Amino acid sequence: MKTLFCSYEVYPFAKVGGLADVAGSLPKYIKEMGADIDVIMPFHKKIDINVTENTGMKICTGRIDRKIEFDIYKSHLENSDVTVYFLKNDELFDSEDVYEGGDIFLKTLSISEIMAIFCEENEYDLLHLNDWHVGMASVYNYYFYGRIPTLFSIHNMAYQGVFPADKFSVTGLPREAFPKIVKDDQINFMKGALMFSNAINTVSESYAKEIKTPEFGAGLEDILIKRNDDLYGILNGIDYKINDPDTDKRIPKNFSVDDLSGKYECKKALQKRCDLKIEDVPLFGLISRLFYQKGLDLLQEIVEEFMNENVQFVILGNGDKKIEDFFLKMQNKFKGKFSSNIMFDINLAQEIYAGCDFFVMPSRYEPCGLGQMFAMRYGTVPVVRYTGGLIDSVKEYDETDKTGTGFGFYDYNSEKLLEVLNKAKKIFYREDFDIMRKNCMEEDFSWNNSAKKYIDLYNRYIR
Ligand code: GLC
Repeated sequence: MKTLFCSYEVYPFAKVGGLADVAGSLPKYIKEMGADIDVIMPFHKKIDINVTENTGMKICTGRIDRKIEFDIYKSHLENSDVTVYFLKNDELFDSEDVYEGGDIFLKTLSISEIMAIFCEENEYDLLHLNDWHVGMASVYNYYFYGRIPTLFSIHNMAYQGVFPADKFSVTGLPREAFPKIVKDDQINFMKGALMFSNAINTVSESYAKEIKTPEFGAGLEDILIKRNDDLYGILNGIDYKINDPDTDKRIPKNFSVDDLSGKYECKKALQKRCDLKIEDVPLFGLISRLFYQKGLDLLQEIVEEFMNENVQFVILGNGDKKIEDFFLKMQNKFKGKFSSNIMFDINLAQEIYAGCDFFVMPSRYEPCGLGQMFAMRYGTVPVVRYTGGLIDSVKEYDETDKTGTGFGFYDYNSEKLLEVLNKAKKIFYREDFDIMRKNCMEEDFSWNNSAKKYIDLYNRYIR
């Protein structure tokens, strides 16, 4: 059995969100468990050509209405022998930003056709597509390239790849495909993938249930309900080797569940780096794309009140300008207590996971969420809204039997968020906090469990 794993972003080559983390780690675990797998992605402009090698292979689109040729480069995933193929066309992929700039319709459509061709030519047994950007590969695969069994993984229902219907002629697909890839008079790549893939899964069991409702299904819930027999939920994992507090070189001091002293050093170093007062008060962290999904409006409503307490907050992320400005304002208002880092910085992220006491995720919806897993791995207690994967990965702390890993709330309501933040602040000064930390670090969010589930799923659909 050999799988072709397709993604628009793959860590460490190109990362915007959690999709890259998944694509950069899950295939390693799958291969280690004995199932062969290669990864394929676009050659984005900012990828360093020196870490890749030209295979000499070229593939040209065959069905879409213009000839676009790609050179095939290759490399491998960090610390592994999983091959990564890159589809290189410098004219089409000419923007610094992975998603913004350039013709995203043509970029995603053409790499999708190329991935289907590559899959057939190289005799893979399964095509594993991740998110809408590569979803149309299922449609080309079905009509033109071998009908290889296809699994489509949903990482976020809200992003579907929607384009004007008059672009249909560009696709080169037969007329009968039109109603299957069009929704509300617009081409919808996600719909195409949901219609033409043999199996569908999403990144947590709770989200797999949620997306069959209008609230989370983003207009495609009816299709998901119809496809229920082939719809699965598999919780994401994270790379436990790269993300190990005991060996991680990106953090100032290593530590482990048996000796947390290094964690206090990490906290001090983080306070220093972020211009926070160096003192042992509860330190809350938040790392996120600053978007609607992430529930930051809840935090905005109550954070000033919360900051009047003896606590500190460090934020890392960028996105919506209004949210960015708000956090910068908080930094000015609460000097030495609130630190806003409006950027994307993988190393600072690691220092935050390691150095904070609590990690905050008030998400409006969350297909899986990885931040809470990284946080727990580094002994940082999650404070979350229970939705999607946050339900499946964070266990409410129970003070009586000392079990559980975090605090959470269900209603999308800022008062509830304030309540759990205060609960966290209080437990910080009690012995229970050490127990919580230990409980977090003793969880297993490595891919071990879930990679096995993917292999089982692959086997179920392979001919
Ligand atoms: C998306 C989702 C996030 C998930 C990630 C990886 O970024 O928003 O919840 O963890 O994909 O699957």
